[in-house]
Amino acid sequence: MNVVPPTSASLIAALAGVLPNGGLLTETQDLARYSRDWSGDHFGRPLAVARPASVEEMSALMRHCHAERIPVVPQGGLTGLVGAAVAADGGEIVISLERMNRIRSISPIDFAMVVEAGCILEDAKRAAGESDCLLPITFGAQGSCRIGGNVATNAGGFNVLRYGMTRDLVLGLEVVLADGRIWNGLKVLRKDNRGYDLKQIFIGSEGTLGIVTAAALKLFPKPTQIETALVGLRSVEDAMALYARARRDCSDLLTAFELILRQGIEITMREGVDFPDPLTKAYPAYVLIEVSSGGLIDLSAMLLGFLGGVADIVEDGIVASTRAQAERLWLYREIMVERQGRGGRYLRTDVSVPISKLADFVTDALAALEEARPDALAVTYGHVGDGNIHLNVVPPEGMEPQAVEHLFEEAEAEIFAVVDRYGGSISAEHGIGRVKQKAFLERIDPVTLDLAAGIKQAFDPRHLLSNGRILASKANHGL
Ligand code: LAC
Ligand code: ZN
Repeated sequence: MNVVPPTSASLIAALAGVLPNGGLLTETQDLARYSRDWSGDHFGRPLAVARPASVEEMSALMRHCHAERIPVVPQGGLTGLVGAAVAADGGEIVISLERMNRIRSISPIDFAMVVEAGCILEDAKRAAGESDCLLPITFGAQGSCRIGGNVATNAGGFNVLRYGMTRDLVLGLEVVLADGRIWNGLKVLRKDNRGYDLKQIFIGSEGTLGIVTAAALKLFPKPTQIETALVGLRSVEDAMALYARARRDCSDLLTAFELILRQGIEITMREGVDFPDPLTKAYPAYVLIEVSSGGLIDLSAMLLGFLGGVADIVEDGIVASTRAQAERLWLYREIMVERQGRGGRYLRTDVSVPISKLADFVTDALAALEEARPDALAVTYGHVGDGNIHLNVVPPEGMEPQAVEHLFEEAEAEIFAVVDRYGGSISAEHGIGRVKQKAFLERIDPVTLDLAAGIKQAFDPRHLLSNGRILASKANHGL
């Protein structure tokens, strides 16, 4: 192909023309904030950061990038964990959605809201709440992550077992395509069977097929009652037996069922006197249970009745008597996530197996890990009501960086081999990005790969959008 690559200076000047009013950042000190993700593990300096303020500006930007074959990577709140939104060092323009952060509409009658992709999840949740509605996507990063990233990664979190993944909550999307065309699929219809459901192809595509600029999201009645309990158990097996009972006894009022093994509780306890051992003694496994409902149900009686009926499984437990106490119980989960690596790197996994196999999976995976790498500390927690577990690996203190890399490779291979044996997924929640790409492509069957490559080719024929995420990198005749 006869493409004359533009010089960086001419490229920047042309982009600045497309994005007036401070829409383009090029100074080194301005780029720093867009170069590193939340985990701190992934770094890549963009050529520049484009910050369109409207769908029209986004469209003009992509028309230009397509014509000039400029590779781009869309970026939300940088809380992703697989390195998808950080630029390939020095080779991509970051497109930040941060200036497209408006809530366009909320309709309590439709139980729907239309939100721009750069809106922070917590802001969208608050706005829904002010209209007496619930936007149920909930997880630790909700104060920083943005709706576009939630859609692009099909975000999961604590409330999936009741409300589903982000995919289940999207009614419509507005997307700017690789060539700059705007696909307007923004609608709040509950039922619509007109042909292919194109929005689904963008959800979970990690920025590789188009740039989500706005989403119509499903809302639910805001619960007026929430009850939270933390219980101590003898084993993961007991946790799963408890889950089976909870799913029937609490039916659809069960909102969260989070497992934390003992070492996770100890991580939070290291924070000091504010976090004492939460129950009367130490237990191998803990479960945080949350139920929620509207006003006409005696929710507290239901939870107490349920716990009374499972005394054969539950060793000990506390039920929060105030919202502040409930939030404190959740802190054991959230602080553990933040501090598990003691400020250093650690291996994250987010695997899933059928719920019925989860206890056996955890036993086998921990045994395989212990056998292969007894020096590693395993931190195990997760959304076991969805069959999704985070089995993370923290290296011993003071280990050399190269040895740490080797440990992570070995540990991941051990865990994934057990996942394969159980017919599970190596990425249930966080996506593929760049970090999980090798393991993903090693396992993909040729038919799936062929179809996926065809989809990529149809949506992004010049391979300019998040090139090298999910699927292997392809020459884009770019810079
Ligand atoms: C969690 C996120 C990190 O479960 O997936 O805490
Ligand atoms: Zn998770």
